[in-house]
Amino acid sequence: MIVEKNIKKVKNIVANQKKRGNKICLIPTMGALHEGHTFLIKEALKKSEFVWLSIFVNPTQFNDLNDFKNYPKSIKKDISKIKEISENIFVFNPTSDEIYNNNIVFENFDFGNLDKVMEGNYRPNHFNGVATIVAKLFEIFEPDFTFFGEKDFQQVLIIKHLISKKFPKINLVICNTVREKNGLAISSRNKLLNKKIYKKCGLIYDMLVFAKKHIREKDINKIKEHIINKLNAISSFELEYFEIRDSEFLEKIDILVKKQKIRAFICVKVDGVRLIDNMEL
Ligand code: PAJ
Repeated sequence: MIVEKNIKKVKNIVANQKKRGNKICLIPTMGALHEGHTFLIKEALKKSEFVWLSIFVNPTQFNDLNDFKNYPKSIKKDISKIKEISENIFVFNPTSDEIYNNNIVFENFDFGNLDKVMEGNYRPNHFNGVATIVAKLFEIFEPDFTFFGEKDFQQVLIIKHLISKKFPKINLVICNTVREKNGLAISSRNKLLNKKIYKKCGLIYDMLVFAKKHIREKDINKIKEHIINKLNAISSFELEYFEIRDSEFLEKIDILVKKQKIRAFICVKVDGVRLIDNMEL
């Protein structure tokens, strides 16, 4: 297995792989790998043997310095997890200097409404930071396929936008959300929850399922009210948002229009741990 830190070397290896006619898959991650990430690797292996996984905790997407400092780092564990799937995954694990060259700043993108709402509203410039690092990775690898998880659906739309404007040759593969047994979307943050509270977090998923089940028969505002009341009834839950929006531009939905794709989005702070999830309705 190759683990490389240097951009020039990576570019050389990738150029050789392409020369031999191979398709390149790229999976951007911040490490602390879990079953959500390993699912992306398995999906990528279906497209090509040449799967690159980047592991880089990107400073420019954190608006909270403490959140950045506390972000779990476990490169050794990550590498053994990857090896369990295949010895042939290529890992790019650069330093911050290698990526930002002593100039840790995000680029300003124009994403219209996409970065103004929900995560964008609670985490100013988060998506500028995400797009900055992902654009850098796209420039380094010029991959044929890139893999992102539906769990971060707003991020998926940002990446879709970035690809359509700047990297039209890249194919975006959107992968389903991998969940715990109680329905909770798997996230590195789940480990920060104690057992008792963790059990209660199944309610977040249950509420998305509730919205999906009743959206065609009940008033949207009634559904929202029910869900907000249920979540607010749990003392360790602090609901940041529960919203129903269209799946393309993230405009708020008040009335259903036939055939329009819509989604429910949720963010709950559970004992200070921010959990996000979403579901197509
Ligand atoms: P990270 O949180 O490490 O996630 C890397 C990828 O794994 C993302 O595409 C994310 O949506 C996906 N993922 C996370 N949990 C998942 C789950 N339960 N099921 C399916 N996919 C899941 O997202 C980032 O890193 C960063 O913002 C990044 C894009 C790497 C830029 O720094």
